[in-house]
Amino acid sequence: MQYDFTSLMDRHGMDAIAVDGPGQGGFAPGAPKPGSGFDVIPMWVADMNFPTVPTIPQAIIERASHPAYGYFSTRPDYAESILRWQRERHGLTGVTADCIGYENGVLGGVVSALRAFATPGDAVLLHSPTYIGFTHCIEDNGFTIVHSPLRLDEQGIWRMDYEDMDAKLKAHHIHVAVFCSPHNPCGRVWERWELEKAMEVYRANDCIVISDEIWSDIILPGHTHIPTLSVSEDARSRTVALYAPSKTFNLAGLIGSYHIICNPTLRDRVDSVSSKTHYNSMNVLSMHALIGAYKPEGAQWVDELCEVLGGNVDYACRFIAEHFDGVRVSKPQGTYMLFLDCTDWCAAHGRTLDELLRAGWDVGVIWQDGRPFHGPCSIRMNLALPLSRVQEAFDRLEAHVFHA
Ligand SMILES: Cc1ncc(COP(=O)(O)O)c(C=O)c1O
Repeated sequence: MQYDFTSLMDRHGMDAIAVDGPGQGGFAPGAPKPGSGFDVIPMWVADMNFPTVPTIPQAIIERASHPAYGYFSTRPDYAESILRWQRERHGLTGVTADCIGYENGVLGGVVSALRAFATPGDAVLLHSPTYIGFTHCIEDNGFTIVHSPLRLDEQGIWRMDYEDMDAKLKAHHIHVAVFCSPHNPCGRVWERWELEKAMEVYRANDCIVISDEIWSDIILPGHTHIPTLSVSEDARSRTVALYAPSKTFNLAGLIGSYHIICNPTLRDRVDSVSSKTHYNSMNVLSMHALIGAYKPEGAQWVDELCEVLGGNVDYACRFIAEHFDGVRVSKPQGTYMLFLDCTDWCAAHGRTLDELLRAGWDVGVIWQDGRPFHGPCSIRMNLALPLSRVQEAFDRLEAHVFHA
């Protein structure tokens, strides 16, 4: 490996909610039990505990070393970097620079697109389990979420229920859907036939698709991300695709996402809404960060990252299968999240999910309540840490939580 995914990076005092947030209230999980001697193993909020690819800090430092940060224009390399990245990493072709638009965040892009194509009070289709950020941003803006549940098949793989999607689109007169690809928190990397079937359901119901592909670079070995825009001509014309280097390279603190919208009418509608907020403007340092990220070094770094995450996922899923009777998990194909179903374990041990969560936090395993993601007895667990920390977490869980 060319890059370092094994050293322990100390993030304390560096503004990271992942390590300094636990126990601080709000939506943060609890902290380790005082006096227990256990340190925080951050396994909740979706960021990573690896130093990012050096070309990013290099690009930021180089620009920051010029002491003027006035109004600026977007460099041509910004769109060129995105087009090259999407073409080389995901085979997305036939896209031009004018299809790309800046978004202050992927969730901000979701809200702008919803406001462009629906009116507060209208229903919007989403799959459940559901990423909590969707729930907040959609409901905060007055839209009503209609869930179409994903279902586990006989192999334990989460699948869409196309008949249910179709029925709900019709019953609720829905014409905008939010689609998560890869899916957080279930970790599905949708196969081409699944995307084709889903897009056919959306077409049949004249439904615009807001395709959140923020996780599209975090694909575990053996799987391939297929951009929704590339599924068919019709899909290309009804899709608002949202991307960011933030999940891929751990840049959420810098802010900076983008949309790719090929249909000029859809694009004008989204641009019209987002520009009228007067908030949707790029930061010069995050522009340079994106350019630094989408370089060949960045591609190499992501390849290595995905290999490391694949190893962590294999380790964790094997450990659970061998040691935690009553805990079920569908092995993720993308993302670095596990979505544990603890129903049987809690029933067998007479413990509530709150007690189980607390037992983990007490020993520094800072995992996350899965109920706000619509897993009634679920825990979401972030594996983007050096393997030694993942092993330490599972050893603590075995010794102090599941077999205590
Ligand atoms: C599916 C999904 N969309 C969006 C976001 C947040 O994106 P942003 O911070 O750009 O709004 C996340 C963060 O975890 C996510 O998992």
